[in-house]
Amino acid sequence: MTGGAGFIGSHYVRRLLGPKGPGDVSITVLDLLTYAGNPANLDEVRDHPGFSFVHGDICDAELVGKLMVEHDQVVHFAAESHVDRSIDGGAEFVRTNVVGTHTLVEAAHCAGDRTLVHVSTDEVYGSIDTGSWPETHPLAPNSPYSAAKASSDLLALSYHRTHGLDVRVTRCSNNYGHHHFPEKLIPLFVTNLLDGKKVPLYGDGGNVRDWLHIDDHVQGIELVRTKGRAGEVYNIGGGTELSNKELTGLLLEACGADWETSVEYVEDRKGHDRRYSVDCTKIREELGYAPRKDFREGLAETVQWYRDNRAWWEPVDKGTASRRVV
Ligand SMILES: NC(=O)c1ccc[n+]([C@@H]2O[C@H](COP(=O)([O-])OP(=O)(O)OC[C@H]3O[C@@H](n4cnc5c(N)ncnc54)[C@H](O)[C@@H]3O)[C@@H](O)[C@H]2O)c1
Repeated sequence: MTGGAGFIGSHYVRRLLGPKGPGDVSITVLDLLTYAGNPANLDEVRDHPGFSFVHGDICDAELVGKLMVEHDQVVHFAAESHVDRSIDGGAEFVRTNVVGTHTLVEAAHCAGDRTLVHVSTDEVYGSIDTGSWPETHPLAPNSPYSAAKASSDLLALSYHRTHGLDVRVTRCSNNYGHHHFPEKLIPLFVTNLLDGKKVPLYGDGGNVRDWLHIDDHVQGIELVRTKGRAGEVYNIGGGTELSNKELTGLLLEACGADWETSVEYVEDRKGHDRRYSVDCTKIREELGYAPRKDFREGLAETVQWYRDNRAWWEPVDKGTASRRVV
């Protein structure tokens, strides 16, 4: 597993090695521990006999080649993942997301007979005013982040078409849940509100996202790893569609804060996609996927986790990439 010390990757490891996991897996996490990687996210599994950790870079071809020989499957989470940071500078996004993914698929091809699940995002499709994208929709990414992810999807799939490598791609909507780095909207807003600070709302607050609980994303990835087909793309989503303004209202309510004193409108993100929406018919009908977590319940649990785990997020620099008050 690459990127296993991050938000989604660490959740996936804890799930697979936990009591509800398949029981017959051992996992090596390869993670560079960038600002987004937190070793504490892996504390729960550190002493598990099936767990090991390698501190390293997915762009390091020698290291990746050596590890690939010792493993039969790769679940690839490692990425630069924050759109605002990609607006301030895209170089790390190209390096990690494009070059890093190429390093992995090349090593998997050389090792032979490997399965690689490439974890991608709905943002590669661009922005959609009405309706939802099926997996066959052309890619039209707008931010350096989503363009780098789209490039990595295409590279990974090219190794299936050219070399027959068993590559499976997932494209998921916005995740929320515990251990989410507090530069992203939900944990940023929750931690600000718990500290009695204002929250920065982009533009008119009308941008719409589909919010999916991390458990449901992990469920989808696991279905793709165990039952998915080589060379296929699977959308994952079907959570709850909300405008940022609606979501802010729910977060204020959950944290006991009010709009007038707590919300600050800030200049809109450059190139801000208006709406994302994935059509999840394929994964539902082919693999039996169905999101289970009720949004309000999941949000309440998430807020409670941030209340109870100040030691996890207080030392973190939330960053202020691309955000200006108007
Ligand atoms: N967060 C979401 O809502 C969401 C939605 C859909 C898809 N995704 C995708 O899921 C994946 C994981 O997202 P996340 O939110 O957990 O990200 P994250 O930023 O929390 O974690 C990324 C992890 O990758 C590691 N990493 C970064 N560069 C690396 C490198 N060169 N070599 C090795 N490790 C490196 C980091 O240290 C960190 O542990 C990403 O590929 C992202 O594009 C995220």
